[in-house]
Amino acid sequence: MTFRAALIEQRLDGGRIQDHQADLQDLPEEFLDGAGGDAPVDIDVHYSGINYKDGLALAGKPGVARTSPLIPGIDLVGEVTASADPQFRPGDAVVLTGGGIGEAAHGGLAQRARVSAKYLVKLPEGLSERRAAAIGTAGFTAMLAVLALEDGGVRPESGEVVVSGAAGGVGSVAIAVLNTLGYSVTAVTGRAQEQGEYLRSLGAANLLERSELAETGPALQKRRWAGGIDSAGSATLANILSQTDDGGTVASCGLAQGHDLPTTVMPFILRGVTLAGINSVTASPELRARAWSRLARDLPMELLDEMTQEITLDQVFDQAEQILAGQVRGRTVVNLAG
Ligand SMILES: NC(=O)c1ccc[n+]([C@@H]2O[C@H](COP(=O)([O-])OP(=O)(O)OC[C@H]3O[C@@H](n4cnc5c(N)ncnc54)[C@H](OP(=O)(O)O)[C@@H]3O)[C@@H](O)[C@H]2O)c1
Repeated sequence: MTFRAALIEQRLDGGRIQDHQADLQDLPEEFLDGAGGDAPVDIDVHYSGINYKDGLALAGKPGVARTSPLIPGIDLVGEVTASADPQFRPGDAVVLTGGGIGEAAHGGLAQRARVSAKYLVKLPEGLSERRAAAIGTAGFTAMLAVLALEDGGVRPESGEVVVSGAAGGVGSVAIAVLNTLGYSVTAVTGRAQEQGEYLRSLGAANLLERSELAETGPALQKRRWAGGIDSAGSATLANILSQTDDGGTVASCGLAQGHDLPTTVMPFILRGVTLAGINSVTASPELRARAWSRLARDLPMELLDEMTQEITLDQVFDQAEQILAGQVRGRTVVNLAG
């Protein structure tokens, strides 16, 4: 018996990638022997996704794949076929985002997976497998960021909330959820011409050109935002912090512009701004359950469908290049049956 999988093979030397190869292979079931730790769960994977991190791994960029050979894919959705952990039974529909799969352990871009039960979540009632994959790491991260704003006291009546990387996966889901919750959202995008209508359809009240935040500005600027969700990092995040109103919270999710943060302590010590770090990979089981139930409640499914495109496993390599080039809109699910 074999199963179809994307496979990355690399030769690493002192942490640096020397050779990189990524292609589709038919792997024997034994390939997954030893995966999943002490109490592994076997899953027939029905859907995976392409996140920015998957793009990096598939393209042979450093920082994601930490072992070789590796089945990439930081998300998977499917049906349990066997479980050494009593929490899961054959037939359970499950979703796994992060938790190290597609990085240090075999991931979701394959028809079979064997994973640790630690971060596995049963699908919330009423959420289809395809939609759970459409949410994936990006949507889950967007919800963690929304929860961070709420926990920081940012309310719809507090004022405008800014979302950068707006047309990407995290940004698209964040806009749809925030708008549903009653927030007024400014979407920061480098694709206003092309994606403006799309962003408004998700619920963005205002659009802001990415270039307006792309250069480092003064340490304190005119107060514009009650809070923010940032996928860009670098000068964009620094400017958002400098423009955030007293007591506001800004969630840092990503590094699409860069991993640097050219800021000062001024927004923190003179305006009491909070910078909330978001890490979806090792989010606790409790936080995962909270975020998934909120996604099932607060993300309008017709908007999720509108932001989702579906591809097959043989298309993931092209899609990886496109996501790194900033050309992908919203979310991409990979249908493993296709
Ligand atoms: N912390 C976590 O746990 C976590 C989880 C998921 C993702 N992330 C990170 O969050 C970021 C977004 O992930 P994603 O899945 O939404 O990726 P994505 O779908 O590729 O979206 C990224 C978006 O960022 C914007 N962008 C691209 N280049 C930019 C630049 N030079 N300056 C400013 N904005 C730029 C683009 O939006 P516009 O075209 O609208 O400008 C792009 O669509 C990535 O850095 C990813 O690694 C982190």
